[in-house]
Amino acid sequence: MPSKLFDNHGRPITYLRLAVTDRCNLRCFYCMPEEGIRYLPKKQLLTFEEIERLIKIMAPLGISKIRLTGGEPFVRNDLMKLIRSIVGIEGVKDLHITTNGILTTPHLSELKSLGIASVNLSLDTLDRERFKVITRRDEFEKTWATLQSLIENQIPVKINVVVMEGKNIDDILPLVELTRKAAISVRFIEEMPFNGEGNHYTSLRWTYTKIMDYIRAHYPALERLADPPHSTSYNYKVPGYSGDIGVIAAFSRTFCGTCNRIRVKAQGVLKTCLYDDGVLNIRDLMREGKSDAQITERLLHAFNNRPLNGFEAEEKRSSGAPAIESMSTIGG
Ligand code: 5AD
Ligand code: SF4
Repeated sequence: MPSKLFDNHGRPITYLRLAVTDRCNLRCFYCMPEEGIRYLPKKQLLTFEEIERLIKIMAPLGISKIRLTGGEPFVRNDLMKLIRSIVGIEGVKDLHITTNGILTTPHLSELKSLGIASVNLSLDTLDRERFKVITRRDEFEKTWATLQSLIENQIPVKINVVVMEGKNIDDILPLVELTRKAAISVRFIEEMPFNGEGNHYTSLRWTYTKIMDYIRAHYPALERLADPPHSTSYNYKVPGYSGDIGVIAAFSRTFCGTCNRIRVKAQGVLKTCLYDDGVLNIRDLMREGKSDAQITERLLHAFNNRPLNGFEAEEKRSSGAPAIESMSTIGG
């Protein structure tokens, strides 16, 4: 049995979100400036061998759930090769992926046969024109096809919707309606300032409470569901609908008390909170020739010094700067 790992605030750490690239084939308004971001030179990225080693070090510590993120994970060459090896690592129980769906469809049947636990699809609108404005690319059809294919392949799907004033408010109700027939989960996310340029607004207008009040006004019979342990979303269902909806207070940060997650950025930097600015460069330790035991020791030290919440993490950033880096470099 893997030993259970707890942080300095008594929270178990069981979930790794791993960015396999910082590159992306979209330019979402909430994630990157229009001209994109400066990508890392490829040799700075963790190699597949380094990623496998990292997971083999972390799994015995109690990490049993892994989510591959990016950037867009499928932009990384031969991603399926990495996935095949990760699912074989002892102790990894659930593998999830967050994708924008553009390059994803051809891989769904293999993902299904490899036992992928779920796919999170980024889809902020059901309207092709608005998709073009939000992502700055005309690729709605491909993402939509991936959604259909995920449903056909019976892969559990969560749709990520970042709620943006002036951009996709008119999509909120149609997206709730999607859950009438489809047994999917649609999650509305507060917009965070992780877009490579800083806050879009002086204050966040579409907070999770406002989003829910808006939805409840149209669906007064909305039922509250029990939230799974360590859930970052508050979950609801329209009675009689096949799927469900959720709201994620990503900016208000209401969920830090039960946070079981750590992140590793594409270049191998460990983050123990979304709002910190990176606490350990694991790639450098590997490339300096450190042993698994030495790396484990450094990881445990970082886990023992986790900030209490995203506000404390922000205050402790060594760069001092507010958190504005692109989500594409952080890993979703
Ligand atoms: N605010 C909130 N969510 C974001 N994401 C990316 N950037 C932001 C942001 N600034 C989330 C989206 C996307 C996933 C990859 O990361 O939900 O679907
Ligand atoms: Fe790409 Fe996702 Fe960022 Fe959009 S949010 S630019 S799909 S990484």
